[in-house]
Amino acid sequence: MPSIAVYPGSFDPITLGHLDIAARAANLFDELHVLVVHNPAKAPRFSSEERVELIRASLAELKVSGPAKITVDTLDGGLLVNYCKMVGATALVKGFRTSVDLDYELPMAQVNRDLAGVETVFIPADPVHGHVSSSLVKQVADLEGQINKYVSEAVACALTTSVANRKAQG
Ligand code: PNS
Repeated sequence: MPSIAVYPGSFDPITLGHLDIAARAANLFDELHVLVVHNPAKAPRFSSEERVELIRASLAELKVSGPAKITVDTLDGGLLVNYCKMVGATALVKGFRTSVDLDYELPMAQVNRDLAGVETVFIPADPVHGHVSSSLVKQVADLEGQINKYVSEAVACALTTSVANRKAQG
């Protein structure tokens, strides 16, 4: 039976930190689903479709692969564990930078295990990416700072365009 995992998140947009976690998870499983999930607590900069495209472009640009077959998908409603059941995944992958991330993730991991027996595999962030988050990258981009160290070229280009469009709209 193939080992199948889901790596969920807002990915608004995907960063080099997320891509590092995806690459390392791809070494652990036969199949990895990178899943864009709508988080009602956050107002997204990019649509789900745009985020999926940016993830695909970033995976290709950085040649992220591994033994795993990687697919990119969206979940626009419903429980994450239902998506896991649908694709036969028995594990979720989450990256964490500090204990703050773990405090946020732990109850979700416990609920997902409670609901459907889906385990969460936590992968520690590479310290190189320890300070990188989607929200900080958006803030730096909005203030016209350099974001190339934190995201793929595809994402840097999309963010620069979105900042220009927002400015043009006042
Ligand atoms: O990148 P984020 O915003 O921290 O990701 C959080 C996310 C989207 C993974 C989380 O909100 C989630 O799992 N949502 C799916 C809805 C769900 O199944 N909720 C119940 C168990 S947590």
